[in-house]
Amino acid sequence: MAKQKINIGLIGSGFMGRAHSFAWSNVSKFMDTDFEPVLKVMTYGSKKEAAEEFAEKWGWEELAKDWKEIVARDDIDIIDIVTPTYLHKEIAIAAAKAGKHIYCEKPCAISYADCLEMEKAVTEAGVVHYLNHNYRRVPAIEFAKKLIEEGKIGRIYHWRGAYLQDWILDPNFPLTWQFRKDMAGGGPLYDLGSHSVDLARYLVGEVKTVMAKNYTFTPERPLPGKEAVVFRAGSNNATETGKVEVDDASFMVVEFENGALGSFDVTRMAGGRKNYNHFEIYGSKGCLSWNFESMNELRFLNLEDPAGEQGYRTISATLGGHGQAGVWWGPGHVIGYENTFIHAAADFLKAVKDGSVITPNFTDGAKIIRVLEAAARSSEENRQVLVSEIA
Ligand SMILES: NC(=O)c1ccc[n+]([C@@H]2O[C@H](COP(=O)([O-])OP(=O)(O)OC[C@H]3O[C@@H](n4cnc5c(N)ncnc54)[C@H](O)[C@@H]3O)[C@@H](O)[C@H]2O)c1
Repeated sequence: MAKQKINIGLIGSGFMGRAHSFAWSNVSKFMDTDFEPVLKVMTYGSKKEAAEEFAEKWGWEELAKDWKEIVARDDIDIIDIVTPTYLHKEIAIAAAKAGKHIYCEKPCAISYADCLEMEKAVTEAGVVHYLNHNYRRVPAIEFAKKLIEEGKIGRIYHWRGAYLQDWILDPNFPLTWQFRKDMAGGGPLYDLGSHSVDLARYLVGEVKTVMAKNYTFTPERPLPGKEAVVFRAGSNNATETGKVEVDDASFMVVEFENGALGSFDVTRMAGGRKNYNHFEIYGSKGCLSWNFESMNELRFLNLEDPAGEQGYRTISATLGGHGQAGVWWGPGHVIGYENTFIHAAADFLKAVKDGSVITPNFTDGAKIIRVLEAAARSSEENRQVLVSEIA
């Protein structure tokens, strides 16, 4: 039976624009969805030629100059926000007021106050809102969550999170929007730390206190060349430099509300680490360890095994029962980054169909940014900060 069509409006067409276009194009082919997404219209802004090429490649039917034109259209059901972070709030609030369901990239916004405004708008409008912390939808993570819920880890004592990259090691890497506080909110603290805090909240619980140290190793960078984008310096003939307004690295020590103790280590200056999103969880009955760079593998230690037989086993999370892995190719047939976007799109379409709540959403986004704002304050004031201090 033909699936019901649902029209998407895409705002932005950079790195995440590609990932989301891939997901909308493929979700109904692989997953059991009620809807078939139609890649209806996308923005072109000041880069019409590049947008035309993008639209043709990915199958977007139409182009609109300004995102406001897309939000105002009656035939658009879903607004997909893949712009720099500072724009999420304005677009999301306008989309909610227009009654659109919202699929938005992380981090939620550049401040806790902005996140709360977004949350209020979507709650009042009664629309489905999703915040794309896509790592939750890695099958190994979904399985880790199951093990925790089944009590196999017992009481959690420790979370050790690290999210390490190295793409700004070159001091001549230009000052793209990711280095501007007014556009990104923070450096890796916001960009990578938001993902890591999302996983920690999902697997361990809410954070109560934060002690943090943020650091900027390269305080000035050349202004960006025309083609500069994330991970790529682009053509950069600029002689002028600008001030880096965000952290290059951040360490956090946290207490969770449930009594667990945690640490987060996030940086874009860790040589050789490309997308090293890693955690260890130490509990009373078992322990877990995972790293996105081998995303299909979950390492599990069962402390209830006989002492002489204990050791970390590596579970290939590629079987049915390992989260959404079962819809793919088969045991041991590994999947990748792009699949997490398809999983998220499928869950989002289900929430739209059922009128149900999907997580993480703007409520989660606000809680995450609250922790990160507490970290920023802690570093500035050189003291431990209660997350509840952030209003
Ligand atoms: N989930 C993930 O794994 C992940 C990875 C990278 C980035 N992100 C997030 O995705 C968002 C976008 O990041 P990116 O890496 O795709 O950035 P990017 O710089 O590659 O792309 C941003 C896009 O937004 C467009 N844009 C800028 N201003 C606009 C405006 N006023 N109207 C319409 N479009 C506008 C740009 O032209 C560009 O196409 C950010 O919030 C970022 O934190 C998430």
